[in-house]
Amino acid sequence: MYKSLVRSILFQFDPEKVHHFTFALIKGIMKIPFVPRITKLIFKVENPKLQKDLLGLKFENPVGLAAGFDKNALLFDEFANYGFGFIEVGTVTPKPQPGNPKKRIFRLKADEALINRMGFNNDGVDVVVERLRKRKSNIIIGGNIGKNKVTPNERAIDDYMICFEKLFEVVDYFVVNVSSPNTPDLRALQDKEPLTNLLQTLQNANNKKKEQKPILLKIAPDLTDSQLLDIIDIVNTTKIAGVIATNTTIARDGLISEQKNETGGLSGKPVKDRSTEVIRFLAQKSGKSFPIIGVGGIHSAEDAKEKLEAGADLIQLYTGFIYEGPALVKRINKSLV
Ligand code: FNR
Repeated sequence: MYKSLVRSILFQFDPEKVHHFTFALIKGIMKIPFVPRITKLIFKVENPKLQKDLLGLKFENPVGLAAGFDKNALLFDEFANYGFGFIEVGTVTPKPQPGNPKKRIFRLKADEALINRMGFNNDGVDVVVERLRKRKSNIIIGGNIGKNKVTPNERAIDDYMICFEKLFEVVDYFVVNVSSPNTPDLRALQDKEPLTNLLQTLQNANNKKKEQKPILLKIAPDLTDSQLLDIIDIVNTTKIAGVIATNTTIARDGLISEQKNETGGLSGKPVKDRSTEVIRFLAQKSGKSFPIIGVGGIHSAEDAKEKLEAGADLIQLYTGFIYEGPALVKRINKSLV
């Protein structure tokens, strides 16, 4: 039904317009009495076998909504009804910013993929904090943080610290995003020295709190083996909580769609194998010494299992959610039970 009807209509229109339209639609529909409850009945799989204690948190199931989808924390309560175990908002920056000029999301239908060059368009941390304060559900919320485009890399730590401090009371875990290809030079922050400094500064601030919140690092799938070994070292020395692997890729191997040469980050099926490889490498080389959230190209229950078997403790969806629809969350959870 989703693919044959809903998707075939939605895919006739510009992806960003569809995104805003469906957000408004879901927001409206969920205000109708009983609709949230019915949605939950249709989509949510509740089973103790799905529960997971990780990062000091109790996840109802291991399937999360990846960053970038509910960037501005507009729909996290509504998305909880679709059966997700956790939702990551952001990437959020200290000041609001418009992102790159439109058009900036492209559907690569033949490859079941997307290319995006959004550029951290977001309402800014203060607005997002206010929205999160009004959280009604008890869904676990991650706060994915970044830096403003105008902030030079030498002052990036200030931006991450502002977001960390402001979001601290309203999120359950943090994700440090240094892996988006759409903010100039951001990925240079993945180098060993700046990354160690950034994560150590955040972890030191975390250690000063009465109760610490887990901080995870989100990495690109384009890192080399030696860079991944550095990541393991950095996680162990800074004692952050874990890694999210992976963000979108700048690689363009094997694509057949017309839009394959658009600038930006590629997500969906073409990133699946590389993302799984990164997860497996990190899990094996670290001796599984820290939690890993696996994300990249999960479009089926088999894809989800592959990530978990490679060493992921939890998984997240973005592009698969668009191509397969909300029933994907249920399919994965059912097959895990
Ligand atoms: C993303 N992603 C992303 N990641 C992040 O850490 N911060 C962000 O703001 C965004 N924004 C964003 C926008 C769009 C349009 C897409 C398609 C993706 C990356 C996303 O969270 C995920 O890591 C990758 O897309 C790989 O997973 P999928 O999409 O293949 O399931």
